[in-house]
Amino acid sequence: MVKSMGYFVFVVLLTLAPICFSHKPQVGYLFPQFYDHSCPQLQQIVKSIVAQAVARDRRMAASLLRLHFHDCFVKGCDASLLLDSGEGIVSEKESKPNKNSIRGFEVIDEIKAAVEKACPHTVSCADILTIVARDSSVIAGGPSWEVPLGRRDSRGASIQGSNNDIPAPNNTFNTILTKFKRQGLNLVDLVALSGAHTIGNARCVSFRQRLYNQNGNGQPDFTLDPAYASKLRNQCPRSGGDQNLFFLDYVSPFNFDNSYYKNILANNGLLNSDQILLTKNQESMQLVKQYAENMELFFDHFAKSMINMGNITPLTGPKGEIRQNCRRINSY
Ligand code: HEM
Repeated sequence: MVKSMGYFVFVVLLTLAPICFSHKPQVGYLFPQFYDHSCPQLQQIVKSIVAQAVARDRRMAASLLRLHFHDCFVKGCDASLLLDSGEGIVSEKESKPNKNSIRGFEVIDEIKAAVEKACPHTVSCADILTIVARDSSVIAGGPSWEVPLGRRDSRGASIQGSNNDIPAPNNTFNTILTKFKRQGLNLVDLVALSGAHTIGNARCVSFRQRLYNQNGNGQPDFTLDPAYASKLRNQCPRSGGDQNLFFLDYVSPFNFDNSYYKNILANNGLLNSDQILLTKNQESMQLVKQYAENMELFFDHFAKSMINMGNITPLTGPKGEIRQNCRRINSY
């Protein structure tokens, strides 16, 4: 009896062992060690090419960080943003938020080519974008975090998704929050991730309305500091100059710090979507104040929220593919 009981326990343990002790993760699960054996050089390659690109052009850290956001908000973090038009694909690069604005694709191409050389057919473009976003934060002086990996690349793009799902600078607070919630992100993610606007540029066309005609009555936005507004008007006229560039954080445009939130408290947020974090919602107002006071708290929340954003509906396991060239789906 005791003997057969022991045998029974042995059989049960043997059956459960692969589930309990296996190192194989479940399908759909991202984890930082995904490429540790298949591409040990990956992190180093990405880091060094991002550093070279930012040394050539300081704005590039901002542009690369934004690529990940505009990828993840459209069909998840699947590198759909990187596809060029052709073969039934209408590129997301042509959408309203992206056209004449999004940049940095050549840097991703350079990284992908170097990674393919070191580890052919192994690393997805979606994962490259995710690591690049982290490295861009670090190189600008922002927080670091371990990047969960294992995403695969889409075989399609969605220009409609790009037009509808990426928040616009003149959306209301509630519209923007709803767009974040649809992606499984919350109000803390919204306020923390908006802090990416501590680096980089915006074009005149993205905030002109605030300078001349905020509510259709020919008046500027009263939540914009008048002296700052007047300076902005010099380079952002009523008509023309649409593509003229302005720092999102004029105090320290290349440093990833918390001056973005300090600017907002001083009514110097550049975009309407920046300033309304203070003026339209109590909870978000509290966070703006806390981040302006406490940079460590901002960095901690930013890192966590970047991981949350990177987890938006990734393709894993047998889904999608590992693109050879980030601009095209593979041909079979
Ligand atoms: C909350 C909603 C958001 C809105 C409405 C918004 C809107 C914008 C707009 C209008 C610009 C300027 C584009 C131009 O004029 O060419 C911009 C730039 C930028 N955005 Fe956002 N954004 C949002 C959230 C985010 C998030 C979540 C991130 C990243 C985590 C991000 C990162 C950036 C960066 C780094 C730039 C500067 C890019 C460069 O200089 O090339 N933004 N954003």
